[in-house]
Amino acid sequence: MGYSSLFLICFLLVVVLSVSNGQPLVPALFIFGDSVVDAGNNNHLYTIVKANFPPYGRDFKNHNPTGRFCNGKLASDFTAENLGFTSYPPAYLNLKAKGKSLLNGANFASAASGYYESTAKLYHAIPLSQQVLNYKECQNILVDVAGQSNTSSIISGAIYLVSAGNSDFIQNYYINPLLYKVYTADQFSDILLQSYSNFIKNLYALGARKIGVTTLPPMGCLPAAITLFGSHSNECVDRLNNDAINFNKKLNTTSQSLQKTLPNLKLVLLDIYQPLHDLVTKPSENGFFEARKACCGTGLLETSILCNHQSIGTCANASDYVFWDGFHPSEAANKVLADDLLIAGLSLFS
Ligand SMILES: *[C@@H]1O[C@H](CO)[C@@H](O)[C@H](O)[C@H]1NC(C)=O
Ligand SMILES: *[C@@H]1O[C@H](CO)[C@@H](O)[C@H](O)[C@H]1NC(C)=O
Ligand SMILES: *[C@@H]1O[C@H](CO)[C@@H](O)[C@H](O)[C@H]1NC(C)=O
Repeated sequence: MGYSSLFLICFLLVVVLSVSNGQPLVPALFIFGDSVVDAGNNNHLYTIVKANFPPYGRDFKNHNPTGRFCNGKLASDFTAENLGFTSYPPAYLNLKAKGKSLLNGANFASAASGYYESTAKLYHAIPLSQQVLNYKECQNILVDVAGQSNTSSIISGAIYLVSAGNSDFIQNYYINPLLYKVYTADQFSDILLQSYSNFIKNLYALGARKIGVTTLPPMGCLPAAITLFGSHSNECVDRLNNDAINFNKKLNTTSQSLQKTLPNLKLVLLDIYQPLHDLVTKPSENGFFEARKACCGTGLLETSILCNHQSIGTCANASDYVFWDGFHPSEAANKVLADDLLIAGLSLFS
């Protein structure tokens, strides 16, 4: 047995013990970003990018369409469970007034948001800059309910989970001539990373010390991306995957330099690319049988309002599908991704 698997087993033992004590591994989990992690903030916005209606949520607790872009749990929900929390960080816009429910964290993410401010504006979603302001407001609420000293330890001990960049490419760059005619994908990546850098510095200035950032997924393998940008081959689109790989490399370099300039910051990249690529290219080895088509509707394109209870063709059971809708993994795939995230994120809580 390798050192790392031994380490993992010891670690999991610690998780199990602390979880059975009813004590999460960290005081709180704060979540920022896009539809991959939005747990219902967009329900409260005038946007078409929503998922608070069936069949979304049909495999969630009480079959509740909470606004999650999934049939069930998001990878971040599994992460919350893995950390020992008994509830998920609530969507911040759901509960502004209820101070105590913020003690274990909150979710500020907004579908169709990203590192590029105008992506969110295009869809009337919450830009990352505003998500940070909402977090700042949340800190003030915490001081009111828990006092300054408890709040300080919550802030510095918490894990901050960030998922962004997907919408900047898929819902903006690739379909927006004002961007793709002006910038190469490489130049656009540089712009996104500049904004990423500022975002991390702002979170750090507000006290965040343990930040996990997800990479871009294999964008060219998302069912809707194959339909829109593929050449009728049903294969992953290389151009989009290469853009993701290139972005992820830059994300790594930028993160390393942030790590060097910001004392006591633990900044970890959580790789989504490889595990999701494995699921898509080798579904049966991972217990899935369908990776090209999503479960909802025809499975080739539909997401958000186009994936609804009248969509024709929605599968009966999503557990064999890698994708739930045209852009988002199924709960079953999210479980696999979350297990990988846990391993990648070990250094955040060890
Ligand atoms: C701070 O936390 C401690 C331990 O959980 C608790 O006993 C105390 O009441 C908290 N302080 C405030 C002001 O809520
Ligand atoms: C960047 O990549 C290197 C080499 O693969 C890895 O060791 C390092 O942990 C990565 N950096 C971050 C911040 O994830
Ligand atoms: C879907 O299938 C899995 C196994 O194939 C089964 O465990 C699960 O109960 C099914 N879900 C529903 C809602 O039928």
